[in-house]
Amino acid sequence: MSERIQKILEKEDWNRNDLIQLLNATGEQQQDLFKKAHEIKEKYVGLKTYYRGLVEFSNYCYKNCYYCGIRAGNKNVERYDLTDEQILEAVQFAHQNKYASVVFQGGERDDKEFIERIENILYKAKALTNNEIGITLSLGEQTLETYQRWFEAGAHRYLLRIETTNKELFYKIHPQNRKHNFERRIQALYDLKRSGYQTGTGVMIALPFQTTEHLADDLLFFKNFDVDMVGMGPYIEHKETPLYEFKDALIPLKDRFYLSLRMIAILRILMKDINIAAATALQAIDPIGREKAVKAGANVIMPNITPTINRTNYQLYENKPCIDEGADDCTTCLEARITIAGDTVAYGEWGDSPHFKNRTKKAEDIKP
Ligand code: 5AD
Ligand code: SF4
Ligand code: FES
Repeated sequence: MSERIQKILEKEDWNRNDLIQLLNATGEQQQDLFKKAHEIKEKYVGLKTYYRGLVEFSNYCYKNCYYCGIRAGNKNVERYDLTDEQILEAVQFAHQNKYASVVFQGGERDDKEFIERIENILYKAKALTNNEIGITLSLGEQTLETYQRWFEAGAHRYLLRIETTNKELFYKIHPQNRKHNFERRIQALYDLKRSGYQTGTGVMIALPFQTTEHLADDLLFFKNFDVDMVGMGPYIEHKETPLYEFKDALIPLKDRFYLSLRMIAILRILMKDINIAAATALQAIDPIGREKAVKAGANVIMPNITPTINRTNYQLYENKPCIDEGADDCTTCLEARITIAGDTVAYGEWGDSPHFKNRTKKAEDIKP
């Protein structure tokens, strides 16, 4: 068996079956996979971790994803919306601490007031930092026009997880209606690319009803879509959600964790020069989960810089880490952990995905 994995690791191109075998690797074979991913990381993107200061600015959401703790249907959540000043303060914190980039993440909304507010904050965040701060958005599905407006206003990366690329599974974890539509979500990813964003997607790993075959197809989707960044992590059940009903069908947390690390390592080897985030959900399972992901090929970490008082109300899943810590605590804590994992923190660098540069350059070269 070990030899078989070794043989796959030595191949130039992987087919679906190779991916499935790699996803099932255990013990020594799994170690070989992580080692290879680390080598590829060093060669193509360097042993550096980029920070993106995460601002979870609002937990109002008009969607009802079956897995998420802040879904509209959960009436036990105390809803909050940071003020513009609080958001800008977090941006200032990131800038002063040389994080170089921030991510604005929030529940999904598409009303006019919201769209204008984001646009306005983008301009302000840029002005506040001499245009220096890099801004990633993670605000769900929007129209092409909205994506373009926000791009114009200064955002240059966007994360929109497809959650799963298997349509049938997609509708087991989401309602099926106007607000939750598989084709619409795929279209949104194309609209993001078309608007000029470095485009990121991702999936949840070890969902109920999910198979290794589904995950192999997810990896192939990332490759075919030619994505610039990926953020993916383990599914963690939340009591106040409909999917909780299937908790007995889940594999143990530790297995979900290692399956997630294998997804990261395989993807690093498959798409050498993209950015891969070490999802916070990894740390909800293992206290040094994100650092283990860094060793297995991830190169982006999103330290939470949301004001501490609001963190308890942004629990997409249970056991979310760093809920009581302030942004300063996380900065010192993380740097030590990343150094131990063998990376340096790339302070003051945007850390754009080299893949994006290579893909847009290629497009330039073939223009007549
Ligand atoms: N477990 C793990 N990840 C979750 N997300 C939402 N709910 C959960 C959960 N229960 C992830 C989704 C979403 C991202 C913001 O958080 O993938 O895209
Ligand atoms: Fe809303 Fe995102 Fe949670 Fe879905 S995953 S309910 S869109 S916050
Ligand atoms: Fe938040 Fe360690 S990273 S406390």
